[in-house]
Amino acid sequence: MTHADWNAHYAADDLPWDTGEPDEHLVAMAITGALPAGRALEIGCGTGTNALWLAAHGHDVVAIDVAPRAIERARAKATAAAATRCRFEVLDFLAAEPPSPPFDLVFDRGCFHVFDEPADRARFAARVAAALAPGGAWLSLLGSTEGPPRDVGPPRRSARDILDAIEPVLELRLLRAVDFRVQGDRRARAWLCLAARRDVDAQPSTRR
Ligand SMILES: C[S@@+](CC[C@H](N)C(=O)[O-])C[C@H]1O[C@@H](n2cnc3c(N)ncnc32)[C@H](O)[C@@H]1O
Repeated sequence: MTHADWNAHYAADDLPWDTGEPDEHLVAMAITGALPAGRALEIGCGTGTNALWLAAHGHDVVAIDVAPRAIERARAKATAAAATRCRFEVLDFLAAEPPSPPFDLVFDRGCFHVFDEPADRARFAARVAAALAPGGAWLSLLGSTEGPPRDVGPPRRSARDILDAIEPVLELRLLRAVDFRVQGDRRARAWLCLAARRDVDAQPSTRR
């Protein structure tokens, strides 16, 4: 999808991915202490529900999206909620650095998975790594190649697609098969991926 296409979805209120509620997996990870505290970046924040939830639960948040109409809506929600710890900016994450790095937590729900080209996913992962503070981690929720055939729903990425993109720059900590809630009660198979900034390069694979 082009940037204009994303914006058109927000202008037309055609948002099958927007549940209007904080993502259950993000909430579970955060409240069990599995995520680093501190400064957070959300990439592809849409209308801002998850960014505002993170801000209300102790993070100082910068949230970006390539679609100006999404950011307008997110800012309106922030004003209505009198949220002070959440800043929303229009930004193409593949093209520009997010404001005020580094971040302890980088989060995306359904943004990494929108890129069809392996080179774009690798660039996304490299930009995540560059944005992370020491000890920082990236949490991503993305559509999976598991589950039955379907004509609609999130893009499908395999575990190998994920690792091809992230392994050179991030250390995988968790890859769990979960469900992804889309509008209404519909669900699709998904991956929950947690990866940390690398302190040392991955070592060569050992042969027997
Ligand atoms: C599937 S939607 C998910 C939105 C939101 N995270 C949610 O769960 O409701 C993907 C989002 O990524 C945004 N996006 C797509 N390409 C982007 C890019 N290059 N940089 C920043 N945001 C991007 C889109 O505008 C869209 O809001």
